[in-house]
Amino acid sequence: MDSAAGRWRGLVEGRLEEMERLQEGRGALGGQFWDKRARRFGTGPVASAEGDPMLARLRKAVGRGGTATFLDVGSGPGRFTVGVAPRVREAIAVDPSTKMLALLRTRARGAGIANIRTVKGLWQDVDVAPGSADVVLCSHVITLIADVVPFIDKLQETARRQVFLYVGAYAVDAIFDPFWRHFHGAPRRPGASWVDALGVLREMGIEPDVRVVELRAGNRHDSLADAVESYRDQLVLPKRPEVRRELTRLLDPWFQRRNGGLYAPLRTQPSAIISWRVA
Ligand SMILES: C[S@@+](CC[C@H](N)C(=O)[O-])C[C@H]1O[C@@H](n2cnc3c(N)ncnc32)[C@H](O)[C@@H]1O
Repeated sequence: MDSAAGRWRGLVEGRLEEMERLQEGRGALGGQFWDKRARRFGTGPVASAEGDPMLARLRKAVGRGGTATFLDVGSGPGRFTVGVAPRVREAIAVDPSTKMLALLRTRARGAGIANIRTVKGLWQDVDVAPGSADVVLCSHVITLIADVVPFIDKLQETARRQVFLYVGAYAVDAIFDPFWRHFHGAPRRPGASWVDALGVLREMGIEPDVRVVELRAGNRHDSLADAVESYRDQLVLPKRPEVRRELTRLLDPWFQRRNGGLYAPLRTQPSAIISWRVA
């Protein structure tokens, strides 16, 4: 029988190969890929983690003394780094994207926060000493990592107290499936899920605490044009006027409109908070 780590690798690689086949360079997912998407993550409803149950868990984990250290791996523009930093001695944000880290620094400056250190690079490559943070977070990153066991091992080695992973826990592909088939003529290759992550952790001898939380904010778009651009990117479609026109035609009646925004017709977007204490 295949190992969970082997299954994971097959899922991630299959998905990246499919993306590369559809759009040259798309399977690489390096810093430049994320640079182009920094604005989307750095603005709008996903830009702040206030009200997100993960932020409450992290604040509890670092405690009230202000002496703990926090590491955010794949920080993006830093919604969790900035949310936790005022409660710790030092927060370290690791990300391969120059633009994501620039947004994070601007935001920290705006909030008068001066205890964040940014480290540019892929987690696999950066030099961060073992045991450098009490609490380590990796939010919405691991499903992109084919060689996930050493990636998680390094998270563990760097943590003195606790590791947190955040992984989407709803079938986003099922929601996109009619659109994906419409444009690509076949279902998408399945990606690695939070359940696969639990299998990998178990194989590594880790028995985590798992809580699935319901999130409301993430799927808002301010305009139909913004939504079309974001869905075009997520559906790996070319930047062509006829593609945008067709997506506009399909998405316009599909979105729900409230409070001046457009929302995918989902009640919530569940996510899994997966955490464990390190010895
Ligand atoms: C989906 S965003 C999530 C951002 C943030 N953690 C959050 O939850 O808002 C993924 C981020 O992970 C970063 N990333 C991708 N691969 C990475 C890797 N191998 N090591 C570290 N960061 C990575 C990207 O640059 C991007 O900023």
